[in-house]
Amino acid sequence: MKRPAEIGAAVIGSGFIGTVHIEALRRHGVQVHGLLGSTPERGAQSAERLGVPKAYDDLDDLLADDRVDVVHVTSPNHLHHPQVKRVLAAGRHVVCEKPLAMTSDESGELVAIAKSSGRVNAVNFNIRYYPLNQHVREIVRDGKVGDVRLVSGHYFQDWLLLKTDWNWRLEPNLGGSLRAVGDIGSHWLDLVTFMTGLRITEVMADLATFIGKRHQPTGPVETFSTERAADAVEREIGTEDMATILLRFENGARGTVAISQLSAGRKNSLQYEIDGSTDAVAWDSEQPDQLWIGHREAPNEILIRNPALMGAAGQAAAFLPGGHVEGFADTFRALFAAVYADVGNGRPADQPTYPTFADGHDEMLVGDAVATSSRDGRWTAVARDDMTPIQHLEEIATP
Ligand SMILES: NC(=O)c1ccc[n+]([C@@H]2O[C@H](COP(=O)([O-])OP(=O)(O)OC[C@H]3O[C@@H](n4cnc5c(N)ncnc54)[C@H](O)[C@@H]3O)[C@@H](O)[C@H]2O)c1
Repeated sequence: MKRPAEIGAAVIGSGFIGTVHIEALRRHGVQVHGLLGSTPERGAQSAERLGVPKAYDDLDDLLADDRVDVVHVTSPNHLHHPQVKRVLAAGRHVVCEKPLAMTSDESGELVAIAKSSGRVNAVNFNIRYYPLNQHVREIVRDGKVGDVRLVSGHYFQDWLLLKTDWNWRLEPNLGGSLRAVGDIGSHWLDLVTFMTGLRITEVMADLATFIGKRHQPTGPVETFSTERAADAVEREIGTEDMATILLRFENGARGTVAISQLSAGRKNSLQYEIDGSTDAVAWDSEQPDQLWIGHREAPNEILIRNPALMGAAGQAAAFLPGGHVEGFADTFRALFAAVYADVGNGRPADQPTYPTFADGHDEMLVGDAVATSSRDGRWTAVARDDMTPIQHLEEIATP
């Protein structure tokens, strides 16, 4: 068993989220030997900025580095599938950003390749790793809300509200044919599946594009940037700005979620409420250290994240004592702790506790059903194949 400090990693992409990966790896003492940028020059600039020792020339150069055990793929979506395939073929473990691929055919192929490789494969559905979300999964498993009946919520952002806002995610050949749903809705759908242990079986979706033409700057744009470019060209936009989706879960529970990248003032607002037959829970990612617990026969509660007041899973994901607020970057530390335990063992556990390629593929299949439903205007079943296992909550061992 290798300790994190004996494990070497490299990161592909060093934009918004690649930077968060590198910083979280350092918190574990993992050796980040180098990064790969879109060009050797841009990679070298990022390596300098982040204090990473090496910028690789290309993926061959990265994979020739024998010190690298794990590769983190944080490039734009269209590169995930080809890069992950090469990383696995080179015998490395892999942590890939969401969405796992551009299509469910691609993600299904990656599940199969990862399985036959015997390597650790993770998808960075980091929102599972807010400690209170780990805690919710345990209390739902332990029957503390009764039978799950309704799961509702939203995921709203505002960074694409104006027609002058631009990012590679707006181009279907780079980001995928589902935009708001693939980019942020995938987190919400994965999270509620994880916490309830219930698959989404059918969807009724309505996708809407309100900004049909946008101004694409002629130069590069940083993710979440609010700068207006002086030189821009007008581009037609076909992907959705917003989605409203009705859901049916495998136990008969119902759900509803609204997803939007045009919600003024909402910077990164993921909310959910789970209404069970006895009690309820609700959470807001912009107040991540607080869990609302609703009761019928007693006053409602607010649980402030506190290792002393959570179950084993919540404790395992928490880093600081109660009252010392944890946030987005800490979820990466917690997810990587679970992943690197398996990397240290050289192979995935029989039932990994972190999101795997199978979970990433399942989200792609739900996305397919969302797209079909919206196009055809009807309820659509999620077409699962035998590569999409889910751990029902009663099967979950406490960590
Ligand atoms: N888990 C999360 O919460 C979360 C949040 C944001 C983004 N993401 C995901 O992370 C990925 C990156 O998103 P981002 O917001 O960081 O984008 P970004 O545009 O900020 O960064 C992308 C990076 O990839 C690099 N890149 C481009 N082409 C490359 C190539 N051929 N080889 C190597 N690197 C290349 C770019 O130079 C840049 O450094 C996306 O898949 C996105 O969905 C996940």
